[in-house]
Amino acid sequence: MKLTHFLADDQLSKTQLLSLIDLAKNIKQNPSAYHQSLAGKSIAMIFEKPSLRTHVSFDIGIAKLGGHALYLGQQNGKLGERERVSDYAKNLSCYADLIVARVFEHRSISGLAEHGSVPVINALCDLYHPCQALADFVTLSEVFVDDKGQDLSSIKLAYIGDGNNVSNSLMTMAAILGVDFTLVCPEGFEPDMALFDKATTLASIAGSSLTMTSDIKSLGQQDVIYTDTWISMGDNTKVDDILAKFMPYQVNHKLMESAGASTVMHCQPAHLEQEITTELFDDESKSVVFQQAENRMWAQNSVLVSLLGE
Ligand code: NVA
Repeated sequence: MKLTHFLADDQLSKTQLLSLIDLAKNIKQNPSAYHQSLAGKSIAMIFEKPSLRTHVSFDIGIAKLGGHALYLGQQNGKLGERERVSDYAKNLSCYADLIVARVFEHRSISGLAEHGSVPVINALCDLYHPCQALADFVTLSEVFVDDKGQDLSSIKLAYIGDGNNVSNSLMTMAAILGVDFTLVCPEGFEPDMALFDKATTLASIAGSSLTMTSDIKSLGQQDVIYTDTWISMGDNTKVDDILAKFMPYQVNHKLMESAGASTVMHCQPAHLEQEITTELFDDESKSVVFQQAENRMWAQNSVLVSLLGE
């Protein structure tokens, strides 16, 4: 089934996800074969929140495909305030061939897709970060399938920290792909339960396990440990107010050893000495954080080519 948008992980099938991962690796290995895939196409990129990796990887990635990227920053205000999301979508569709949007609320993404006439890519919202999760599974495929000859579905993946957009997307893609997933969140910081329930159903279809706990001691054996900021963009919680609750969930060498994990992942920006130690983040024998960052571009290019390519 051809992709029409890239909005939320649970709208993707296993076949679509595996093809996106394969295409991302193919574009990474043969960039020149795709250098005109987006020739003559213009992409409007709306950013309601700050960005380094997403902005740069989309902009440079689109240039590598022969397309043109237009950055629309926060000077336009929150979507839906100056003009309706539906009008924003209809206007942008007059000029752009595709819309990339990083927004506060998922309903803005849905509104753009519903009212515009061009494909929309979710570049992070309150509920999902599908571009990140796709890049993460490209990375896991390189590390475990290409380098170690394992099946993707044999990996045991754990996310430790705040239940947020990044963990939601990772959990959902893991469930679709049949990867065993353990979510460890402090009490009161669990993910959206509707998304957890959906992912549980997807995991049972794929025959994998999905576990959620607040007990870090019950982590068990894991191949990969993933973490993200304890306070996401747009959340005004002060770090001092949550430090005591989150510190036992810090990802460090001791935790990696007790889980027997070979690989640590982080979507960045990292808050060093909070959710991850500097020593572990910088440990190139375990940390694949810059491989993840690079793969953002190849993963997104795979989505762009799938949505717009011939
Ligand atoms: N959960 C983080 C991810 C940043 C890439 C946030 O939403 O701020």
